[in-house]
Amino acid sequence: MKIIRSPAAMIAWSEALRREGVTIGFVPTMGALHEGHRSLIREARLQCDALVVSIFVNPTQFGPHEDLAKYPRPISHDRTICRKEGVDVCFEPTAEAMYPAGFQTTVTVPAVAHRWEGEVRPHHFAGVATVVTKLFGMVRPHRALFGQKDFQQSVLVQRLVKDLNLGVDIVVRPTVREQDGLAMSSRNMYLSPDERGRAVTLYKSLQAGAKVIRTGGTDAKTVRSAMAQVITRESTITTDYLTVCDPLTLEPVASVRSRVVLLGAIRLGSVRLIDNLLVNTPPQNS
Ligand code: PAF
Repeated sequence: MKIIRSPAAMIAWSEALRREGVTIGFVPTMGALHEGHRSLIREARLQCDALVVSIFVNPTQFGPHEDLAKYPRPISHDRTICRKEGVDVCFEPTAEAMYPAGFQTTVTVPAVAHRWEGEVRPHHFAGVATVVTKLFGMVRPHRALFGQKDFQQSVLVQRLVKDLNLGVDIVVRPTVREQDGLAMSSRNMYLSPDERGRAVTLYKSLQAGAKVIRTGGTDAKTVRSAMAQVITRESTITTDYLTVCDPLTLEPVASVRSRVVLLGAIRLGSVRLIDNLLVNTPPQNS
């Protein structure tokens, strides 16, 4: 496996392969790779001829009081995973190479970014949209894979690729979960053993909302209160949001008439967790 650090070298590698008609797959990450990343890498390996994984803890998507400094950076563990999964290039740019002196362009996707995560983390999605656009410009992939775990991010990336005609095929893969249902996340390692035990409450809350819909409930308020009830059983958990949305626009719905996404974010001590479930309405009896 090749490790590339400079954007110019990354572009040169990709351009050479593109000229030969090789299909380039790409999995952008911030490292601390877990089974969720691994499943994206495996799928990309199956779908594409050449495979690039980027490892870059992007400073611009962290707020001033967030965990940028302590974000895990187990680079040799990450490279081992990439090697085992048959990755061709691990792209590890530095912050200076990504944001050199004079850098000033920002990509924003306001309608997708303003709600939910965007309300709690106001600069987050501009950071994500900008870095993803830059990474696409450097890796020049035909296809890029993202996890459904970051649902709002996946909607944002699909929108920006369409709006800016970036010509990258975006594939969103299902969330990989621990045995008890907790969505895999690099931030799960911040949880104490006690918090880890309670972290599954978010998934259980989404499941409670999904059950209301699958058994014929259509009132979004009822769905939200079923979700909230599960969380309030755990007095130490606080809720940032629990919502029922249109999966394409991320606007909240009042009534569930077709497929919706249930989005949730909670805080357990100093750890913030997000998760989501796509839910179909039950078939109508004729
Ligand atoms: O999902 C992530 O790990 C990051 O937001 C991404 C897409 C790699 C951009 O920094």
